[in-house]
Amino acid sequence: MSEEHTAAERTVAERTVVVTGGASGIGAATVRRMAAEGAHVAILDRNMALATALAEELGPKAAAFAADILDEAAVQAIERTIADSLPPVTGVVACAGIPDIPRAIEDYPAADWERVVDSHLKGTYITCRAFGGPMAVRGGGAIVNIASVLSFRSGPVLAYGPAKTAISSLTESLAVHWARRGVRVNAVAPGWTDTPFLRPPERKGERDLTPILRATPLGRLIKPEEVAAVIGFLLSPTAAIITGVTLPCDGGVIAGSGWGPYGGFPA
Ligand SMILES: NC(=O)c1ccc[n+]([C@@H]2O[C@H](COP(=O)([O-])OP(=O)(O)OC[C@H]3O[C@@H](n4cnc5c(N)ncnc54)[C@H](O)[C@@H]3O)[C@@H](O)[C@H]2O)c1
Repeated sequence: MSEEHTAAERTVAERTVVVTGGASGIGAATVRRMAAEGAHVAILDRNMALATALAEELGPKAAAFAADILDEAAVQAIERTIADSLPPVTGVVACAGIPDIPRAIEDYPAADWERVVDSHLKGTYITCRAFGGPMAVRGGGAIVNIASVLSFRSGPVLAYGPAKTAISSLTESLAVHWARRGVRVNAVAPGWTDTPFLRPPERKGERDLTPILRATPLGRLIKPEEVAAVIGFLLSPTAAIITGVTLPCDGGVIAGSGWGPYGGFPA
């Protein structure tokens, strides 16, 4: 395949999609979807047990890499390993990140705040930096970052909300930066999605989902596969003219947010 060929021209069998946080939740659903489409998939996750199990289930076109996405040198080393051993990377999905528990600022030391912000914003930056540049050199591709409905309205979530807003902003900046080198950069903004993220260990598996369901006009949790479908669209050549957007996939949460004080949504 010559260098003049664009990412969109390559056949699915020849491409690799990299998914950070690919061992669980939205990332794992994206890995499954891209594998089903015929792509090679590289699962980067710090939970190697889950990542390896998923790669083994999917077969020889899936590979698991133990990665803390906050370790820039390690992520860059994985990028080189993938470049040397797998078909060209044409898609990157930055899913890794940790939950935030709403806390009063008085009880939220800056070091704890930074841990959550870094896991999303710095991790996304490191991922985009490691894979986006080489993708531009090879002739293009697409990146999808993971924002959130809280990118638009943070509420009282002091670290996660601002980090997700910044991911939308970073997505715009990178989209403009790489536009003429064939790398599209978009983000999805999921509403509440049924993954382990919704029930972090700190909550001991218990969480009253009633307020979430009340705030979601569709009246249900989003399935990770539904977010993966939107990610798959943004990675695909069908989305060739879309770059720099944060696309809500939220079951109507943002549209319905002004209605909160008035009670429930129409039956
Ligand atoms: N679940 C939701 O309701 C929801 C809504 C909006 C946005 N999101 C976002 O979607 C993304 C994926 O969340 P999910 O719901 O699939 O959660 P999840 O907990 O199921 O998966 C997150 C994965 O990221 C990995 N990870 C976390 N930090 C890492 C690090 N530093 N290095 C490597 N791997 C790391 C974890 O091991 C895990 O496998 C996150 O960015 C999250 O903020 C989730």
